[in-house]
Amino acid sequence: MRVYKTRDYDHASRVAANILSAQVIMKPDCVLGLATGATPEGLYKQLIEWYKKGDIDFKKVRTVNLDEYVGLDGSNDQSYRYFMDSHFFNHINIKKENTNLPCGTEKDTEKACKDYNKIIKSMGGVDMQLLGLGLNGHIGFNEPGAAFDKETHVVDLSKSTIDANSRFFASIDDVPKQAITMGIKSIMQSKKVLLMVTGENKRNIVKEAFFGPITPNVPASVLQLHNDVILVGDEAALGDNFDKYLDL
Ligand code: GLP
Repeated sequence: MRVYKTRDYDHASRVAANILSAQVIMKPDCVLGLATGATPEGLYKQLIEWYKKGDIDFKKVRTVNLDEYVGLDGSNDQSYRYFMDSHFFNHINIKKENTNLPCGTEKDTEKACKDYNKIIKSMGGVDMQLLGLGLNGHIGFNEPGAAFDKETHVVDLSKSTIDANSRFFASIDDVPKQAITMGIKSIMQSKKVLLMVTGENKRNIVKEAFFGPITPNVPASVLQLHNDVILVGDEAALGDNFDKYLDL
């Protein structure tokens, strides 16, 4: 694991943006696995800025996102498709047909999951998967207890995730109760993982994920078994817990 400890959120966003840019520059037709949530917003802003300066080109890049809420279509401003379009895709030269999210409106959710697995495989897998970390250790929407051997599947969101995500909705009742998410197996198959963790409220869970037991009760703990993880975190989230990795 490589760890970058940054001063604050903005610094973490720039460091993570540098790493994603390097991936795109080294392999212009790479497959990026992307994430939503508040954590990567600054990273997307930074990439847009560099794109506008002409420093990075997305015309051959292909993307797959981790997850989507069941029942929301892309015109709903709480859907992850809407998030990705408005925070990133609409501002760069990526081809929309090269951007993929699970289909939240497919009535047959099992079919939506199978279709998404096929898309990921047809692209040859993910070169670099960006991840945020849920307060209960979830990655994507793989909640505590999620089996490590699953590909894309439907999940019932836990109460803590519904509570945490209600800040984006008019009321807690509007938060969808289910989502389609890439599974732990899909995430573990990506060639590289870029995990971004910021803020003091994530300090305990990121420590548990990397220094606690590897268990489905802390889904992110599976990353201890991935051989190419880059962790970008600010001082508030990492404290001195990861200092022994800093000189690698
Ligand atoms: C959400 C998303 C995750 C995200 C996590 C943390 O539920 N499904 O992909 O990483 O929560 O979100 P935030 O970055 O807002 O803390």
